[in-house]
Amino acid sequence: MGIILKSKMELEKMYRAGQVVWDVLSELRSMVKPGVSTMDLEQLAARRSSERHARPAFKGYMGYPCVLCTSINEEVVHGIPSPKRKLAEGDIISLDFGVSVDGYYADAAVTVPVGRVPVGKAKLLEVTRDSLDRAIEMVRPGNRLSDISHAVESWTASHGFTVVREFVGHGIGTKMHEEPQLPNYGEPGRGPRLEPGMVLAIEPMVNTGTAEVEVQADKWTAVTHDRQPSAHFEHTVAVTSNGPWILTRPKEMTGPSWQLQ
Ligand code: MF3
Ligand code: CO
Repeated sequence: MGIILKSKMELEKMYRAGQVVWDVLSELRSMVKPGVSTMDLEQLAARRSSERHARPAFKGYMGYPCVLCTSINEEVVHGIPSPKRKLAEGDIISLDFGVSVDGYYADAAVTVPVGRVPVGKAKLLEVTRDSLDRAIEMVRPGNRLSDISHAVESWTASHGFTVVREFVGHGIGTKMHEEPQLPNYGEPGRGPRLEPGMVLAIEPMVNTGTAEVEVQADKWTAVTHDRQPSAHFEHTVAVTSNGPWILTRPKEMTGPSWQLQ
């Protein structure tokens, strides 16, 4: 087993999947407004997937019932869309989405504000997004896997936030989850050396208060133990000899990987 290296052609396929994920998340982000239900977002994601001939990665995975995860406020990840759950001004919502195209997967997430949000939530979004950008900067041949983990943890801790330990990033390719597991915490300089052709889904989950999380009665929705807000950003990133290639955004884009509204 071990970490599977991808060829240039395989990376191009993953980039095609990544562009569907980016386009859908971008459209969803623009739909996020008070009164919109999380099922409205689910339905858009499902419709766009089929129009683009992309297979939703989450639906049916370990019995997960939807194509999208929608996690609001104290919900960390894996919130299940529902017609009864409507967004309200001041909420933050994580949108997590993945597809496969021609057998190759891409996976990404963004957390967005609903209208105007309290300053603490805005700061949480900014720090979590920046922690992902710092992690992506470490995706270079010769660095070690835990350099990515350490970049997330050190950035978030220096701003007074905590990282979730129960869920991790992951290798990705012809399966949504491949080796290695990628924690969002740890000492730098540990683990395998990064090599061109490795592809990682990097996904910091960052809490305002305690790092502790628990899973709710629906068996999916993870919430913070203290019910304070949590944020989640994710990109699928390839190691290349020139550094990181973010497969889940357009090639021509530069700057912060997920711009806030
Ligand atoms: N981004 C998440 C992950 O990498 C999404 C999985 S949700 C599931 O694990 F429903 F598919 F499990
Ligand atoms: Co993922």
